[in-house]
Amino acid sequence: MDCVLKLDRLPEKKPFIEGIRRAPRRDSVLSEHDMEIALKNALRYIPEKFHKELAPEFMEELKTRGRIYGYRFRPEGRLWGKPIDCYEGKCIEGKAFQVMIDNNLDFEVALYPYELVTYGETGQVCQNWMQYLLIKQYLKELTNAQTLVIESGHPLGVFRSHENAPRVILTNGLMVGLFDNPADFNRAAAMGVANYGQMTAGGWMYIGPQGIVHGTFNTLLNAGRLKLGIPKDKDLAGRLFVSAGLGGMSGAQGKAAEIAGAAAIIAEVDYSRIETRYQQGWVSKVSDDLKTCVEWAQEAQKEGKPLAIAYHGNVVDLLHYLINNNIHVDLLSDQTSCHAVYEGGYCPVGISFAERTRLLAEDHEAFKAAVNASLKQHIAAIDELSRRGTYFFDYGNSFLKAVYDAGVTSICKNGENEKDGFVYPSYVEDILGPQLFDYGYGPFRWVCLSGKPEDLDKTDAAAMDCIDPTRRYQDRDNWVWVRDAKKNKMVVGTQARILYQDAMGRLKIALRFNEMVRNGEIGPVMLGRDHHDTGGTDSPFRETSNIKDGSNIMADMATQCFAGNAARGMSLIALHNGGGVGVGKSINGGFGMVLDGSERVDRILSSAMPWDTMGGVARRAWARNENAIETCLAYNRDNEGTDCITIPHLADDALVHETVLNALKD
Ligand SMILES: NC(=O)c1ccc[n+]([C@@H]2O[C@H](COP(=O)([O-])OP(=O)(O)OC[C@H]3O[C@@H](n4cnc5c(N)ncnc54)[C@H](O)[C@@H]3O)[C@@H](O)[C@H]2O)c1
Repeated sequence: MDCVLKLDRLPEKKPFIEGIRRAPRRDSVLSEHDMEIALKNALRYIPEKFHKELAPEFMEELKTRGRIYGYRFRPEGRLWGKPIDCYEGKCIEGKAFQVMIDNNLDFEVALYPYELVTYGETGQVCQNWMQYLLIKQYLKELTNAQTLVIESGHPLGVFRSHENAPRVILTNGLMVGLFDNPADFNRAAAMGVANYGQMTAGGWMYIGPQGIVHGTFNTLLNAGRLKLGIPKDKDLAGRLFVSAGLGGMSGAQGKAAEIAGAAAIIAEVDYSRIETRYQQGWVSKVSDDLKTCVEWAQEAQKEGKPLAIAYHGNVVDLLHYLINNNIHVDLLSDQTSCHAVYEGGYCPVGISFAERTRLLAEDHEAFKAAVNASLKQHIAAIDELSRRGTYFFDYGNSFLKAVYDAGVTSICKNGENEKDGFVYPSYVEDILGPQLFDYGYGPFRWVCLSGKPEDLDKTDAAAMDCIDPTRRYQDRDNWVWVRDAKKNKMVVGTQARILYQDAMGRLKIALRFNEMVRNGEIGPVMLGRDHHDTGGTDSPFRETSNIKDGSNIMADMATQCFAGNAARGMSLIALHNGGGVGVGKSINGGFGMVLDGSERVDRILSSAMPWDTMGGVARRAWARNENAIETCLAYNRDNEGTDCITIPHLADDALVHETVLNALKD
C-alpha cells in the first residue's frame, strides 16, 4: 500500500465549469509565519519535484480564496455517487464509502463542489483535493482487517484492526477547549489542519436536502399541532409559513411545507439556488415581487391547497412587507447560515447578493457591520409579528445567537446574556425534543448502493411493513411519509431515503434490509443517520436544548455514542465540532453501516442500533424528560436480562423550592 499520494505527473490546470456555485473568499488572518506553515502543510501531499511549480499556485489560492484547496487536483468533470460496482476496492465498505464521498461532491448535491463544501456554507467532505485523492487511494486498498483514520480531512493512515472494527474512524474540527472558538478555528482551517465537517458533510452521510425535508415536515406539523391547535390527524391546510433560505438544507423548507399542506413563502437572495429548487420541483412558484408572492399564498390558503413560493429577495424586506400590509403569518422561522454569519452565511438587507460577495472579500469590517444592522431589523420584525400572533422558532441555525452577538440583549431570557437561553424557543426545545427525540425518533436513513431506483422502492415498501401506524401518532406520520416518499420525488443524488424512526424501529428495518440483501432481493445498503439526532449530538442551542438538568453544556453523550458505536462494530464512525450551530457550540457524531447480507452484520446491528439511539434517550430520561422516562421504562421491560437504563427519582418541585428558600434565608 502506498503511504503517499501516487503522482507521476502533475494534473493539468483546468478551467472552472461556469455556472457552478463558488465559495466566497474565506476569512484567514495569518501571519507571515502562519502562511509559510500553511504552504508547507499543503505541499506535504505533493512530491518535492513539483514544489517549485505548485508553491506559487497554492499561495495564490490562499491569498484569493482564504484556503488552499488544490483545485488542480480535482478530478475532471462531474463527480457523482456511482453504483458501488463502479468502484475499486478490497472490501465492500471501502467501495461503499467512495459512493458516499462522491455523492457529497456531486454538482447536483453539493453547495460549492469545487471547494468540497457539501452544505451549510462551510461544511466540507475534507479540506482539499489532495486529501480527497489520498482518501480514495486508501479506500481502494483497505481490507477488512484494517481501519482508516481521518483527522479533519487528512488521512492519517491505515492501521491493523479486525473484521468487527470500524473500517473508518473520522473526526473533524475537534479543538482543545482554550482554542475552541471561530477565530482560532479559522486560523487552523486556513493553515490546513482543521476541517469544518458540519454534520453529514464531513461524515459522508449527506443525502441531499431530502435528509432535512422529513425533519422540517415533522417540525412544521408538530408546531401546528402544539401552537395552532391543529388536531393530530389534520395538516396545515390554509396556514401560512414564512422563512428564509433555499440552500443546501434550507432548500427543504418549501417542499416540507407543501407535504405538510401549508402555503409557504421562502425568501432567498441567491437566484441560482432558487433555480435549483424550482427545477427540482421543490418550490412551485418564483417571483421577486412581494405583492405577487403574497397574492399567490393567500389564494392557496383560501383553497386549502399546499404551495411553496420562492421570493427572490431579502427576508427582512419580506417581513416588512407582511407587517406593513397586515398579513397574518402562522409559523415563522429562518434558515440562513447564521452559524457562519460573518463568513457569508447571512446576506444583509439593503445590498444584493453580488454586492454581499464583493463586500465580504474587500471589506470584512463593513460587511460585519451591515450584518449586525440587518439582524437588528430582522429581529425587530419578528418581535412585531410575534406580538400579532405568529409563532416564531429558531430552526437550529444559530439565528438567535447571531442576533445576540449583534448586540441585541433583549432576546435573552435574563435580559443580559445567553446563559439562560433566549425568549424565542429553538425548534428542538419546544417541538422536536419532547415530541420525537425523547422517544428516540430521529433521522434514520439509507442509501441503496446499487444505484437502482427499484431497490429503493423495495426498501420503502419493506420499511412501511415494519411500522405499526396505530401505535402512536408519530408512527402514523412516519408511515405516511414513507408511503408517499416516491410520489414526493425527493431523491437528489444517490438512491436514498430518510425516515424518522425510534430505536427498535430502526433495528427492525435494518435487520429486514440485511435479510433482503442476503436473499438477493436488493443490492448492498448503507445505513446511517443525520448527526442531528437523539443521542448523536450535544448542542445546548439545538439538539440538547430541551435538557434542563444543567448537563446541556456537556459533551459526554455524543462522545459516548461515538465510542459505543466503535465498540460494537459500526462500519464508519464520526465525531465533529460545530455542526449546524458553529464551532464550539456543539459536538456531534454519526455512523455508517454497510449491509452486506451477512450474519456478522446482523449481530453488529442487534447491539449497535439500539445503543446508538437509546444512549441518547437514557440521558434524556436522566435529565427527567417525561417522555424519555416512559420510553426507558418500556425499554427496560422489553430488554430485561440484556439492558438496564438507570431511571431517576423525581423530587417534588415545591419541596425543593422551599428547601432552597429556607437555606438562603439562613
Ligand atoms: N435544524 C436543522 O436540522 C438544520 C439542518 C441543517 C442545517 N441547519 C442550519 O441551517 C442553516 C442553513 O443551512 P443550509 O445548508 O441551507 O445553508 P446554505 O448556506 O446552503 O443556505 C442558506 C441560504 O440562505 C440564503 N440567505 C442568506 N441570507 C439571506 C437573507 N438575508 N435573506 C434571504 N436569503 C438569505 C443564502 O443565499 C443561502 O442560499 C445553517 O446554519 C445550517 O447549519 C439546520
